[in-house]
Amino acid sequence: MSAVPHLRLTRGQLGGAWCALLPGDPGRVPAIAAALGGEAQELAYNREFRTYLVRRPEGTVVVTSTGIGGPSTAIAVEELAQLGVDTFIRVGTSGAIQEKIDVGAVIITTGAVRLDGASTHYAPIEYPAVADHEVTQALIEAALETGVQYHVGITCSSDTFYPGQERYDTFSGYVLRRFQGITAEWRRLHVLNYEMESATLLVVASALGLHAGCVTGVVVNRTRAEHIEEASVARAEPNAIAVAARAALRLVGRR
Ligand code: URA
Repeated sequence: MSAVPHLRLTRGQLGGAWCALLPGDPGRVPAIAAALGGEAQELAYNREFRTYLVRRPEGTVVVTSTGIGGPSTAIAVEELAQLGVDTFIRVGTSGAIQEKIDVGAVIITTGAVRLDGASTHYAPIEYPAVADHEVTQALIEAALETGVQYHVGITCSSDTFYPGQERYDTFSGYVLRRFQGITAEWRRLHVLNYEMESATLLVVASALGLHAGCVTGVVVNRTRAEHIEEASVARAEPNAIAVAARAALRLVGRR
């Protein structure tokens, strides 16, 4: 089989691996491979898509970066599925919108508000963006095991970082009327956080009969600030990575 066009991988290179960790940032791939703790090999790096394969006694885990947002996430899931991957865990960062959630905590997404476009190419907007139960359970068990502060619930997944997440500290300072006040409304609806990939991931996976979950580290609390501090990323990222890596190892050890 020839390589898939964007990830530039072949089925043979994955050696039967069926579980993938999906960070957005290609720069995070080596750290995630290291957290998995096995023998790691870089397989490909094309555009935003960087892939490592990590072999462990429990099984093999693929780590592929998706880039930011739905369109490139859909490509990564589609092409990994063509190569035999059927279980996906997004690991990334997010902005909390509930007062009680601290920077550094992790959020395990059970379902996502579909404020994206890519997922509508796979299923109509009435179709829910829900996480796979077994993947979510593995993430919760992993969070308990690592001892990090965690929250489980609904995420708002937006195509844009600025207007769709109601940020005013921008070039124009203007947010469309459709988004003005939307953060307060999501808060009232018990949505926990904003990020940019989970709606696409969860819908594409469910629509294709695959399994997906999502864990993100909280890098800002939007009830207090819009701006993301580097120190907050440094606090939150390792927590999300630790939870995602443990969850992946739990899952591969079960099959
Ligand atoms: N990622 C997002 O999409 N939003 C945030 O506020 C933080 C990380």
